[in-house]
Amino acid sequence: MDKPWSGRFKGETDALVEAFTESVSFDKRLWHEDIEGSIAHAMMLASCGIISEEEAGIIINGLREIAFDIEDGKFTFDPKLEDVHMNIETELVKRVGEAGKKLHTARSRNDQIALDLRLHVRKSLKEIRTVLTDYMSAIIEKASQLTDTIIPGMTHLQFAQPISFGHHLLAYFEMAARDVARIDDSLKHMNVSPLGAAALAGTPHPIDRFQTAAKLGFDWPARNSMDAVSDRDFALDAAYVCSLIMMHLSRLAEEIIIWNSQTYGLVELPDSYTTGSSIMPQKKNPDVAELVRGKTGRTYGNLISLLTLMKGLPLAYNKDMQEDKPPVFDSIDTTMSSIVLMTGLIKGVEVKKEVAEAALEKGFITATDIADYLASKGMPFRDAHNITGRIISWLIGTGRTIAEMGMEDYRSFSDMFGNDVLEYVKPSSSVDRRKSFGGTARKNVRDSIKKAKRLLEKMKN
Ligand code: ARG
Repeated sequence: MDKPWSGRFKGETDALVEAFTESVSFDKRLWHEDIEGSIAHAMMLASCGIISEEEAGIIINGLREIAFDIEDGKFTFDPKLEDVHMNIETELVKRVGEAGKKLHTARSRNDQIALDLRLHVRKSLKEIRTVLTDYMSAIIEKASQLTDTIIPGMTHLQFAQPISFGHHLLAYFEMAARDVARIDDSLKHMNVSPLGAAALAGTPHPIDRFQTAAKLGFDWPARNSMDAVSDRDFALDAAYVCSLIMMHLSRLAEEIIIWNSQTYGLVELPDSYTTGSSIMPQKKNPDVAELVRGKTGRTYGNLISLLTLMKGLPLAYNKDMQEDKPPVFDSIDTTMSSIVLMTGLIKGVEVKKEVAEAALEKGFITATDIADYLASKGMPFRDAHNITGRIISWLIGTGRTIAEMGMEDYRSFSDMFGNDVLEYVKPSSSVDRRKSFGGTARKNVRDSIKKAKRLLEKMKN
């Protein structure tokens, strides 16, 4: 089949070169955007008097029929025709003849691909945003079930202070809320249309770029034709947004893996979200969480690929930029599926409350509270810290826990201890005293859940 650019050439393209330079194997994914852009372009050409209304009608009908066939799986993309653009245009000409040959007036594949990819990234980010808000709903739901469940909060992966499990989960709500805001910012920046920049310099035909921009839902046409065809910031924004989402998911994944390990055993994962071992019959592995953690690396790699791809590229279009698509698509797919799977995992995870309670007995989790108690009675915090340190050292030496300490034990360290200390050092009192803004007191957590619900409703609208 003759290539649309074959006029200048006498010889055939080497088969190896054809295979090396084609992009249709991956950019066929953009067929819908390609047709959408072409329809907007054809309408504009007609309304500006560059082609007739009749010709535009023929082109648009032809494109719609091609779209139906692609949807029905009846269209074969041919790698000899390089990319999605030339595949669709060649088919159009084959089907509708002369009128089809006029579609490419005042356009180039350079503005065409810049447009198609931008439309695709815009749509995909909106889809990611939707599944992200579903994930946030699942977090809120789990957090309200677990507000009263107290677990050891950690620093350095060591038991630090007791916290409400709901409070812990709401930290992931905050990360996702920032991710949604980041998506919205990126969508704002990317919403300019490159269409009509043509190859790089604009076009002598009397086109109306504002019309195609409005038709395709963009705020403006890009101001500079050279920037329009060579800008891939929007793809980088998407890759960065995906990397951050994955980084956040990977932290939750890691926590689930730790909670699920035999050494901790705090949670039970649903059978439907775990897998077995082919050799060790007792195993129930947290594969979904592990893969989310692992796949995060791919999105970082994709971001670095794109940054490196664009570095030092002279204006305007360079074929290097064809390599932008696989990493962008991979980041989108990886992030989409990871969010959906983490949502299922969060919904299905069960917390073993007796394990949480037993864990609170270990690790002198309310040691800070003993020091806070003395400080609240007027002792300078540094002295209080020192006395508490001596208490802990004594407990370690005698193999006892804070809960096992009686009043005489306390009084032997300081006569500032009153009977109320016994209540003060209980994990539940420790949690509920932390009423400072953003702290873990269960009353705070209940308020935060209400606020999170309101914020999420706003984000969904
Ligand atoms: N397949 C190309 C890409 O993905 C489309 C643009 C080609 N333009 C060109 N002048 N060869 O970047």
